[in-house]
Formats: sequence, C-alpha cells, structure tokens
Amino acid sequence: MAPPAAVGVEALTDTEAITVIIPDPATATVQDIAARRTKAGKLVAGTAAYSSSDFFKSSVAGKPKAKRWDHYISVEGKARQPSVLKGAAVYLKNPGLISLGGGLPLPANFPLEEISIKVPTVPHFSEASTKASGTTLAAGKYDASQTEDGIYDLSIALNYGLGTGSAQMIRFVTEHTEIVCNPPYADWQCALTVGSTSATDMAFRMFCERGDMILCEEYAFASAIETAAALGIKAVGIAMDAEGLMPSSMDEILSNWDEKARGARKPFVLYTVPSGQNPTGATQSVARRREVYKVAQKHDVYILEDEPYYFLQMQPYTGPDAPAVPPPASNEEFLSSLVPTYLSLDTDGRVMRMDSFSKVIAPGTRVGWITASEQIVERYVRANESSVQNPSGISQIVLYKLLDEHWGHDGYLKWLVHLRMEYTTRRDVILGACEKFLPKAVVSWNPPAAGMFLWLKLDWHAHPHAKTKTILELEDEIFLAAVAKGVLMSKGSWFLAEREGFTPTEMFFRATFAAAAEDKMTEAIERFGVAVRESFGLNPPALAGADSLTFRYGDEEEEEEKKKKKKKKKKKKKKKKKKKKKKKKKKKKKKKKKKRLQKMDGWVS
Ligand SMILES: Cc1ncc(COP(=O)(O)O)c(C=O)c1O
Repeated sequence: MAPPAAVGVEALTDTEAITVIIPDPATATVQDIAARRTKAGKLVAGTAAYSSSDFFKSSVAGKPKAKRWDHYISVEGKARQPSVLKGAAVYLKNPGLISLGGGLPLPANFPLEEISIKVPTVPHFSEASTKASGTTLAAGKYDASQTEDGIYDLSIALNYGLGTGSAQMIRFVTEHTEIVCNPPYADWQCALTVGSTSATDMAFRMFCERGDMILCEEYAFASAIETAAALGIKAVGIAMDAEGLMPSSMDEILSNWDEKARGARKPFVLYTVPSGQNPTGATQSVARRREVYKVAQKHDVYILEDEPYYFLQMQPYTGPDAPAVPPPASNEEFLSSLVPTYLSLDTDGRVMRMDSFSKVIAPGTRVGWITASEQIVERYVRANESSVQNPSGISQIVLYKLLDEHWGHDGYLKWLVHLRMEYTTRRDVILGACEKFLPKAVVSWNPPAAGMFLWLKLDWHAHPHAKTKTILELEDEIFLAAVAKGVLMSKGSWFLAEREGFTPTEMFFRATFAAAAEDKMTEAIERFGVAVRESFGLNPPALAGADSLTFRYGDEEEEEEKKKKKKKKKKKKKKKKKKKKKKKKKKKKKKKKKKRLQKMDGWVS
C-alpha cells in the first residue's frame, strides 16, 4: 500500500530535531490517523530528536489525569537522574548550531550505505507469495535530508538516540496504542523497550525493593519469576481457573496479608499476562479484567500488563469436525473482537502495559514498547538512558520501513488478522491431535482462545505409582518418557510462581503450537500420548477401543512379582524339607553303624 501521506519537505541535518504536531481532537480510527498525519505535515525528526507521545495523540480534553505513584517508586527508581548528555540533545534543534558537545559519530564513518528488506505486500502475506512477489524496501543513509518523502534514514537510525526511542517509531506505536486501547486518562505516553523481558526487569526495579513480594498468576512466565528472584523479589501466586487469575483469590490474599508471617510488606504490584497466558494459555474475559481492576483499586495495586500474545487472539474453537468461523470481515470487526486491554479500562493510570513485536513480527527485533502515565514513562526513560538506551537502530528502521512506510496501520492490522488465522489453524491442528492421541481418562485441556500454548492436565492420582512416588517424581518420569519417545514438553512445575518449598497438587505439561510444522506437531502429540499411556499403564487405543484403566501394566507387574515370590518360597521350603530328611537319614545310618560296632566289641549300653 502507499506510504502514509507526508507533506512539507524540509532539508534535514543532524542538528535539526522534531516538528511538534499539535494534536487534533479526532478519534483514532485508521482513517482518522491518516488524515491527521496529512494535516500535521511531514515528520521531521533528526538525530537524537526529542519526541513524546504527546506530539502524536488525539485531543485528550475531558480525560482525567493519572494518579501519582510516588509512594510506590523504589529507591532505585527515585534515584535515577536525567542523563546530562542526553539532555543536551534538546539544543540540537537550534538553527545553525554546530555540535561539538555530544559523542555522536559522523555518519560518514558508518560503513552502511543502504539496507534493503523484502517483505510481504498486503494482503499477500504468505512466505511463498512474499518470496515470489514481495516488496523490496530500501533505507539509504541520507533519505531524510536528501529525498522528498524520506522521514527516517541510516544516518539517524545508526546514531545514538534518546531513551524514549526514535520519534518515527514513537509516532507509530502511539497511534497504534490509541487505535487499539484509547487509554481513558489524559497523560499517557509510550516509550520503546528492548522487548518485554527488559521492560519487566526495569518495572520491577522501578517499583520494588529487595524483600518485596509481587502478585502474579500461580503458574507464571518463568523468566518473569526468575527476573524478580534475582532482584530479591518473591512472587505470590494467585489461584487460577479457565479464565486465568481469580479476583477472589487476589482479594483474599491482600485482605488477609500478615506482614510478620509473610516477612514482607503487603504486595502492591500485580504482574499479569491477561491474554493467552504463558504457560496456561488462559485468556481473561473483559468481565474478569474489570473485577481484577476493581480489586487492584480496592488495595491500591499497580498493574503490570504483559501482553505479547494480545494479537494472537484466535477465532472461537468450534470442535474437531465443525466448520471454521470465517475471518473478521474488516479491521474494525477484528478490533472489536479483541478482549479490551487493562490499559483501555485504566481510568486511574495504574497500568503499565507492555507490548512487544516479538510474537507478531519477530523476537529478534528486540523491540517493544510500554504505555503508562507520564510519571511512570519519565522514570522508565531515565532508566533506559543509563542502561539499554533504546532498541537497536537497525531494528527500529526495519520496523519503521515495514510497519509505517509500507503497510501503514491498515496493512499492519491486516497482517495481525492473517496471524490470527494462522494461529487458529495451528491451534486446531494440535487440538485435533490431542482428541485423537491423548488418553482422555487421564489428560484434559481447555481449548486456548489466544497465544501459543496448550496446557495439558494429567490426572496423576490415576497413576499406578501415585501412592509410592511424589508428584514431582512422576512429572519427571513422564517428562523423560516423552523425551525418550522423541518429544520435548515443558513441565508445569517449571512455571510455579512460588517455588521454594512448594509442592504442587496438580500436574501439567505445556505444549506450544507455535514452533513445529503441523504434521510434526501431530506426530509429537502422538508420541506424548504413547509416553503417557505407557507411564499410566493404559491400553493402546487400538486394543482398548476406548480409554480405560481396566488393564494396568503396573498391576500385572505386581501380580507377576507375587507369583515369583511364592514360587521361590515354595522351592526354599522343599529344599529345607529335603535337607532335613537327608540329615535324619544320615543320623539313622550313623546310629546303626555305632550299634554294629558295639556288637562287634561285645559291649552293649
Ligand atoms: C508472557 C511473556 N512476556 C514476555 C515475553 C518475552 O517478550 P520479549 O521477547 O518482548 O522480551 C514472553 C516470551 O515468551 C512471554 O511469554
């Protein structure tokens, strides 16, 4: 599709910064944003240009300001001072200024003249179509200053930038956030991240001290728990059901918090993955999100909304043989099919949402963004300045070329619909394989509505060794049995939020339907099915007709063992009897001989 309209060509040097765009009151539909851009004119943002979401948002008139979070910001979070060097970049926009102040190398010494990427052309998104007839996009070194409609180039992208990220990408993610979430408070902003992993680490540092405890789902994204643990922060697991974390459990934990017994102050941060949760695949409904938000308000909890799978919400699952639900007919239909985000319900400004391009474009881009209130984003940017600075310029320009210049918001949403259908197909394939190959007597699951994970529950109480082995021993046995059959699954216990001295009562395995080819995925589930059946001593389905627990290899083994013991005992008894008989005979013989000798001697007792 055509690049978004850009007017008002201006010469650009590295001493020029951004043109401030006055936000207009239009609501943020894709069409409105295109019109808004036309009205605002060409985005002029040179090297290390200062930018803010405020330059690109619609009018926020009538919206309340976010609450302040000073009482929750950690010692580290408060200690971060603005970078003096980054701060000096504000003068770069002064006309005629010659900068000898910063350590920004001259682009003439960047050994990259041009990069080009071949990408899908809307709506032909498949790999084959892209290979055959994709579009090649090029980025030169001085496109922004030397071409009429160039906005971003290598001279800017490859130089240092500010902690917010490039103005070009901040514009795109701000507009996208407005289209999708339209936060209900006024002073929201975005800042780019080096993915949600980095954003989570920074958020924990910004809010928590060593010894604090945070709330999260009882089964949680392992890296988030490990990130917290390294910072001396422990997790408190909130009970879950098919819709993810339960507000009643969250309320109960917070209402009955005993600082002394817990050894930590009452938690005030909730880390949650509301859609396609990793590892359970659970998606919170809008009603669930509202209830959780209410509990957060009641206990003044700040919410970290980690949403890498938000756009992997799939078509409703209709069962193995039912016809598929047709794809959304338009971008509007697609957007309205998505469960509203916490950010879109956030009237207080108590949510920091983490978005990521990892699962919707590619993990190696290492680009994502946060959206939160101005106060929190400012603290976040300070942390960026003295750590990662901002995501790689190469990643930013590649994403800009693809998302902004080539696809635009309309094309990007169409790509997300395409991904939705891809993941729907993959999910349906794995569910079909589960129906066919897993023994339902001991394995159960909920069809996931989003994400890339299927959470399989194993009824470990039905295992023949349930009384003699622990749940973790059995989990390990089944895990290794599956590996021996040639399939790698993730153990449920790897994702426990509370790890120290905690024994789970239920057994789960996580399978992803994102990683393998469809036929391989089916084969993997078949192999897992065989491993489970063998471990549980279930009949292979072909012999059993239906899954049953009537014939157990475990029972048969026990029976065999008993028989062997009995036989051994009998043999031993027989041997003993024989020995006794022999001894008796020998004694008798000896006696007889003695008598005979006495007779010979003429002596009789
Ligand atoms: C819940 C969750 N958050 C964050 C990430 C990592 O995101 P990123 O690649 O943006 O760091 C993952 C990846 O598996 C995840 O499952």
